[in-house]
Amino acid sequence: MANLVQDSRKHVACYKYAIQYPLGCHYPATACLVPICSLYGAAVTTVEGVGSIKTRIHPVQERLAKCHGTQCGFCSPGMVMSIYTLLRNHPEPTPEQITKALGGNLCRCTGYRPIVESGKTFCVESTVCELKGSGKCCMDQEDGSLVNRWEKMCTKLYDEDEFQPLDPSQSKQGERITWITPATLNDLLELKANFPKAPLIMGNTELGPSIKFKNEFHPVFISPLGLPELHFVNTTDDGVTIGAGYSLAQLNDALHCIVSEQPKEKTETHRALLKHLRTLAGAQIRNMATSGGHVVSWPNFSDLNPILAAGNGTINLISKEGQRQIPLNGPFLERSPEADLKSEEIVSSVYIPYSTQWHFVFGLRMAQRQENAFAIVNAGMSVKFEDDTNTIKELQMFYGSVGPTTVSASQTCKQLIGRQWDDQMLSDACRWVLDEIYIPPAAEGGMVEYRQTLIISLLFKFYLKDPQKFPNIPEKFVSALEDFPIETPPRNSDCVDPHQPLQDPVGHPVMHQSAIKHTTGEAVYTDDMPCIDQELFLAPITSTRAHAKIISTDISEALALPGVVDVITAEDVPGDNNYQGEIFYAQNEVICVGQVVGTVAADTYAHAREAAKKVKITYEDIEPRIITIEQALEHNSFLFDEKKIEQGNVEQAFKYVDPIIEGEVHVEGQEHFYMETSSILALPKEEDKEMVLHLGTQYPTHVQEYVAAALNVPRNRIACRMKRTGGAFGGKVAKPAVLGAVSAVAANKTGRPIRFILERGDDMLITAGRHPLLGKYKIGFMNNGVIKAADVEYYVNGGSVGIILYLCEISLCFASTQVVEFIVLKSENAYYIPNFRCRGRACKTNLPSNTAFRGFGFPQGTVVVEAYITAVASQCNLPPEEVKEINMYKRISKTAFKQTFNPEPSRRCWKECLEKSSFYAGKLAAEEFNKKNYWKKRGLAIVPMKFSIGIPTAYYNQVAALVHIYLDGSVLVIHGGCELRQGLYTKMIQVASHELNIPQSHIHLSETSTVTVPNGVLTSESMGTDINGKAVQNACQTLMARLHPIIRKNRKGKWEDWIAKAFEESISLSVTGYFRGYQTNMDWEKGEGNAYPYYVYGAACSEVEVDCLTGAHELLRTDIFMDAAFSINPALDIGQIEGAFIQGIGFYTIEELKYSPEGVLYSRSPDDYKIPTITEIPEEFYVTLVRSQNPVAIYSSKGLGEAGMFWGSSVLFAIYDAVAAAPKTFVLSSPAAPEMIRMTCVDQFTDMIREIPRDDPSTFTPWSIRVS
Ligand SMILES: Cc1cc2nc3c(=O)[nH]c(=O)nc-3n(C[C@H](O)[C@H](O)[C@H](O)COP(=O)(O)OP(=O)(O)OC[C@H]3O[C@@H](n4cnc5c(N)ncnc54)[C@H](O)[C@@H]3O)c2cc1C
Ligand code: FES
Repeated sequence: MANLVQDSRKHVACYKYAIQYPLGCHYPATACLVPICSLYGAAVTTVEGVGSIKTRIHPVQERLAKCHGTQCGFCSPGMVMSIYTLLRNHPEPTPEQITKALGGNLCRCTGYRPIVESGKTFCVESTVCELKGSGKCCMDQEDGSLVNRWEKMCTKLYDEDEFQPLDPSQSKQGERITWITPATLNDLLELKANFPKAPLIMGNTELGPSIKFKNEFHPVFISPLGLPELHFVNTTDDGVTIGAGYSLAQLNDALHCIVSEQPKEKTETHRALLKHLRTLAGAQIRNMATSGGHVVSWPNFSDLNPILAAGNGTINLISKEGQRQIPLNGPFLERSPEADLKSEEIVSSVYIPYSTQWHFVFGLRMAQRQENAFAIVNAGMSVKFEDDTNTIKELQMFYGSVGPTTVSASQTCKQLIGRQWDDQMLSDACRWVLDEIYIPPAAEGGMVEYRQTLIISLLFKFYLKDPQKFPNIPEKFVSALEDFPIETPPRNSDCVDPHQPLQDPVGHPVMHQSAIKHTTGEAVYTDDMPCIDQELFLAPITSTRAHAKIISTDISEALALPGVVDVITAEDVPGDNNYQGEIFYAQNEVICVGQVVGTVAADTYAHAREAAKKVKITYEDIEPRIITIEQALEHNSFLFDEKKIEQGNVEQAFKYVDPIIEGEVHVEGQEHFYMETSSILALPKEEDKEMVLHLGTQYPTHVQEYVAAALNVPRNRIACRMKRTGGAFGGKVAKPAVLGAVSAVAANKTGRPIRFILERGDDMLITAGRHPLLGKYKIGFMNNGVIKAADVEYYVNGGSVGIILYLCEISLCFASTQVVEFIVLKSENAYYIPNFRCRGRACKTNLPSNTAFRGFGFPQGTVVVEAYITAVASQCNLPPEEVKEINMYKRISKTAFKQTFNPEPSRRCWKECLEKSSFYAGKLAAEEFNKKNYWKKRGLAIVPMKFSIGIPTAYYNQVAALVHIYLDGSVLVIHGGCELRQGLYTKMIQVASHELNIPQSHIHLSETSTVTVPNGVLTSESMGTDINGKAVQNACQTLMARLHPIIRKNRKGKWEDWIAKAFEESISLSVTGYFRGYQTNMDWEKGEGNAYPYYVYGAACSEVEVDCLTGAHELLRTDIFMDAAFSINPALDIGQIEGAFIQGIGFYTIEELKYSPEGVLYSRSPDDYKIPTITEIPEEFYVTLVRSQNPVAIYSSKGLGEAGMFWGSSVLFAIYDAVAAAPKTFVLSSPAAPEMIRMTCVDQFTDMIREIPRDDPSTFTPWSIRVS
């Protein structure tokens, strides 16, 4: 089945396009789920059709770019299409419509707020610009003209006066499969009789994923979507009938109409459905999925079916034989065979009856995140009372996600008929429903106790909802019924220094150099590069065992498949297959699930993928199989030696303190989830064993080295080229080298270009992510909260090998070593503890090797620090912020590894944060709130930060830059840094423009390549601008020194004249600039060093509200104060901070990687790994750049790329603060996901669950385990 996406970039929110059916309205859709045949009669607009840099860009594209709503740009086309279609239907939308329209789109870089802001500029009352009218914008530096645009500089992040107005009138039988579109209902019924097994393709949101991911194949599809008989709403006195072809979005609109027209008592079911339709999937899916398809596809997590069943809904069926009805509260939803559809039947409509006066219907759901996440448990419940009494006449309870289908608690309901609606009834109902709905201990999806708790917690919410029993519902309980609102914050204040000269690009919010191209879809990523003659696609064959001997490999069946050219294995590696401990293709033995054992090269990706599944490998398991840190400690399995720093005398100090506490903190890992998965194009050359690789990487030199080693050629034959990548976050430092070698071996063997684009699932499986961590602490302190001694041990789950992070002949640095070193060096955070011992070690396990990730261990390690400070506060009966302040560094000091630093900005940020966030007033208000609310609790937390940038190895901070001036005056800048999304190229243009004193439009950066700048170091550790900026500055200053005599003689001349003159005088107009690197060092023998060039400081506080009954939380407010010293580009820097903060929220509160006890990663798609969406951003959000001095860095700036991750921990600790206000069992761990929050809040429901006799753990294997 041809999908539109085939030739398009594939990403999670997928490439959107707008569809318009004749006389219909526009809607955005997810391209990878739209079969091309289904578009017959539709007008399709792709993002390129909305606007293009070649013709004219659309205001939606322009504003997204100018509002700094793009970073890597990979999600931008999706965002554009969502706003574009909204505007086609509603040219003057409300802010709520904007937020709703963007829901379901994922962005991993920006933190969403600038995207929402760009959309809000189309609202009648723009909520965006607070400084309307002043200054001008600094846009359009991409158009290549050499017009001086200095006058276009502005002092705010963007100027909406610059935006183009919106013009609403602007518009614009396969090889294996037979697709049939019936013209009439009779045709459809005839077809269904003739092809009873053919699926009806309606929204394709269930069918599409099954075909794509579960290998479902159907030779015939019937597509009746356009039939008017399936598109109608029919209202009678008893209820409403909705055509099966109505999309969920249309169903939503129809229900809204009904609810507004009918009396409240009649629309209980309709209102319950509407509540869930707001958060079911995202707008794109709701636009496509149909009501008929939803009911019939029986998803066990269905949000609507339990409500339809509870509301006595029915489905109307039709076939050639006639019509009939099936009630949804019978055995149909439980998929009982006797109640099934007959194969020739179709659902023509869904009937939703009206409720009556004493009938109440309720829908409840709890998911990992508010929107676009399948329910962990959901429910539809209804009760009918004897008229005007409390006596139950009818009761129905249906649950989703607790079994393989929607499950009815019919026995419980039956037993409760005739009972009074009172506490005793509730208590019995809870016990009986738990008996009736059994979730086995090894149930798929895990979270067994949590799901059981939700079953009765949701029942309790239903019980409270009954207005009969609770006209005077206790005030304290009311909030249990309130859902968290979905709100997005307005823009915060501008952050540009008003003293910065307008003419100087440095210090101004210059738009990302590629922003416009991001929004038009014309920015080229690796997979966008056109097909090359003879090109082959590569699909990986990965190990299914964690630790096993390879007994045999049979590739014959794979080789026999059409289009397959070759299967590549370890034997095909001409050079080193095991280079510096890194294995490219597994040989003889596998050491983790997901290790590459082979690859298949074929003419299409589909063929390669099919063939990869046919390769048969037999294994013999090897003991031990080590998956968790605990198991590694048992087996003494480590990757490297311990790293340690120590100051004072810890043992001695423990003797003189008041209390001593000990504890453990578990912090789970994180997936990078960059939007562009690992992508490589390897092009073998005819001559001299040369090979060119185009790829997304943070470290081209590393790829060059691995490829050269694998092919056994000198490095000068390998060119690695990198223009941009769709996000990296550390995940593209080390792994692209291995994947590059894997592709290069295939290209070398086949002699043909290789395109190796990992699917999301493969990428998540193979490349791994952030190290899970176990921290053990022993803290000695005085009763006034002063900490005197700390002995802390950290263990990270390193995975199967110590993946090399950077290397050269004299030293190797492994990702896990680096992470451990950083944890140890940074783990004191902003606190001074006079007697301090900190040790760290990387455990060797049979998981894929974990690697670099934004913050390099700091985000994990500091959870342990904040946890023990919080524990000390709790012991001393003091507020945590007071204990933090008491123990913070206060004056110029030495770190535990004896580096001198000045914490003054840290204290300033802390003070400002406390004051400007009104922290103490907020705490008082939260206390008041908590007194008044039993089931909802609020909490606040403030965290300080001292974060270091760079690497303690001086030569790994060196970098070169080339600056060429051409005779027309245009300038080409090339350096060793990679454009990952962070705007490095943009900042380098600002630097060159400032140094050469020419407009930015004169300057161009094209790509990073090992050909132009050899031996470049990794772009990481927040150092990109620091080191590349210095090299560019150095080159520009050399050029200016050469031009100076010419300029002096002709001061009134123009740049172009001076360049012409220089050429005439044979002055070289090309310079290599160099920066030797910060002179950092660390002596691990002594535990001392000047490890980092400088520190970034700050403080952040957050306030949350927790729903103790479900474990959901709402982020009410966050204030961040970040010491930026002098920001070279405030828009990009704020983008970094906000993006990192939202990624941090994901890490600390939502994102959960699930592993089987055998080491298989389950969470390999956006369905089961949830990153934050637009609904997770705080309702109020303030980011302030605090000024300070940093003479060591370029223009006294600071590297801010990574530090912001840590601010997410303010949310984690705010959640703990809130939970502390509820009855609790307090064991701190991260992430504070809903399960953890709910199970920490102890109440009668959790007690009831814990009383259930548990299965003997030796009799079952749990579905998933913790690996930290
Ligand atoms: C990313 C994503 C997120 C989602 N999130 C949620 C969520 O949060 N909550 C939730 O409840 N659901 C969610 N869903 C599931 C979604 O609601 C269902 O996939 C959808 O309702 C199926 O409808 P469809 O029209 O796309 O069916 P299709 O995929 O077109 O068809 C599905 C099956 O139903 C059969 N069928 C369809 N229509 C008829 C008919 N009229 N008569 C007989 N047979 C028919 C087809 O033959 C096919 O076998 C999500 C889906 C996706 C892809
Ligand atoms: S800009 Fe949104 S994913 Fe990168």
